[in-house]
Amino acid sequence: MTTPYVDDVQALRRVFSGFPSGVAALAAVVDGDPTVLVVSSFSVGVSQDPPLVLCAVQRSSTTWPLLAKAPAIGVSVLGEDHTGNARRLASRDKDTRFEGIDTLVSDSGSVFLHGAPIWLDCSIEGVHDAGDHEIVVLRVLGFRDFPHRPLIWHRSAFTTLHSAAQEEVNGLDRVKGER
Ligand SMILES: Cc1cc2nc3c(=O)[nH]c(=O)nc-3n(C[C@H](O)[C@H](O)[C@H](O)COP(=O)(O)O)c2cc1C
Repeated sequence: MTTPYVDDVQALRRVFSGFPSGVAALAAVVDGDPTVLVVSSFSVGVSQDPPLVLCAVQRSSTTWPLLAKAPAIGVSVLGEDHTGNARRLASRDKDTRFEGIDTLVSDSGSVFLHGAPIWLDCSIEGVHDAGDHEIVVLRVLGFRDFPHRPLIWHRSAFTTLHSAAQEEVNGLDRVKGER
């Protein structure tokens, strides 16, 4: 049996944190300033025709209303190279978010992060009510992928993917190092 939900947001957060996800940076130049919102609610596989992706944005976000003004939004899936910068990128301090991160700005003002496994250039298709969040559906206008490994958000911490093959390589490396 499951435990009935009784308005315990902390417990709910702890349970939800057991769901592993990728992390995406939604970014664009807004009023001359590079602006970014980090979301672990990002999801692909919504629709292929037309190509749609989505994320959920807190109603309290002060960054989303800025990004929502942009004609196009760059989505960069964070990669392992972003491990040391991801917390700052998602911090409250808007002025330091891009510190230590190389970016590329498209003609339409979408901002992309170097080191990302995936770039998607998107426009806003629709925004839907979802409790204390809004579900933002984005239409994919263009894409590019790179051989970078993604960053994973799990149990309120950043981690990386470990495949059995990678474990084996790591194991071999360790054995070699011990010789
Ligand atoms: C790993 C991680 C995942 C996050 N995922 C989301 C998300 O899916 N939706 C959201 O609105 N905020 C998310 N946040 C919070 C925002 O990235 C950001 O910290 C917050 O919106 C900052 O407040 P502001 O929007 O007022 O600038 C996440 C933060 C972290 C560290």
